[in-house]
Amino acid sequence: MAELLPDVRFKVAVASAKGGVGKSTVTANLAVALARLGHAVGLMDADIYGPSQQIMMGIDEKPYVDKHDHRLLPIQRHGVWVATLGALMDPERPAVWRGPMLMKAVDQLLAGVRWGRLDFLLVDLPPGTGDVQLSLTQRTALSGAVIVTTPQEVALIDARKGIAMFQRAGVSVLGIIENMSYYLCPGCGRQEEIFKRGGGRDMAERLGVPFLAEVPIDPAVVTGGDSGRPIVSLAPESAAARAYTEAAEAVRRTLDARGP
Ligand SMILES: Nc1ncnc2c1ncn2[C@@H]1O[C@H](COP(=O)(O)OP(=O)(O)OP(=O)(O)O)[C@@H](O)[C@H]1O
Ligand SMILES: [Mg+2]
Repeated sequence: MAELLPDVRFKVAVASAKGGVGKSTVTANLAVALARLGHAVGLMDADIYGPSQQIMMGIDEKPYVDKHDHRLLPIQRHGVWVATLGALMDPERPAVWRGPMLMKAVDQLLAGVRWGRLDFLLVDLPPGTGDVQLSLTQRTALSGAVIVTTPQEVALIDARKGIAMFQRAGVSVLGIIENMSYYLCPGCGRQEEIFKRGGGRDMAERLGVPFLAEVPIDPAVVTGGDSGRPIVSLAPESAAARAYTEAAEAVRRTLDARGP
């Protein structure tokens, strides 16, 4: 199979088997962090059922279609080139996709978007280990996957499933991010461990994959996401933004060490 994205150096999927753990927020912030580090970065919203990057990255316009080759042009926000079907869909009408249509939608996002030359393309996946994940690993050679989990056991069990899926497909796991690790009290600076902090790090050690970062629970992460300004851009010095940036640097180090 011919490579669909020959001009993209590294293609990185952001995944979790469990929903709502913060994948889309992580993807948006990793993308902005890599752009701030000076890279050419794309963000592909492959959550076909429930795209959220149009909101998180602040896209309120429809993408342009190239007159000649009919490909979509990604829209630049916060230094990142973004393509999301969310910008084309009616927010009141959920998409009901079935197997072959899903495959087409994934193809549309890969080959039907003029990505151009990029250092990194980050792919925001829907939760689970289903058709979109499978199509993506079949249609393009992913450089690796970042797994997002929260510290609770129920999330960790699912994270292990996600890791196993990528390993079976021959995609290397670049590391684990533990999201919502703790709450940093803005008044007193104390760290409250609301869930069971450390589960992500333990799991990474046990499975022999890198541990990338602990991201605290921070209301500014929600405000940033809801208003189209990822916290790495909104408040780069905050603990959450520093954690995302740390993770972005670690991913870059691992991929750089591996060569082109
Ligand atoms: N570190 C954090 N602190 C506070 N809120 C957070 C944090 N990370 C994510 N959130 C919030 O949690 C909610 C879910 O996050 P997000 O949409 O990124 O999860 P997801 O894993 O992509 O969900 P889905 O499985 O539905 O795609 C969002 O409202 C987001 O703003
Ligand atoms: Mg999501």
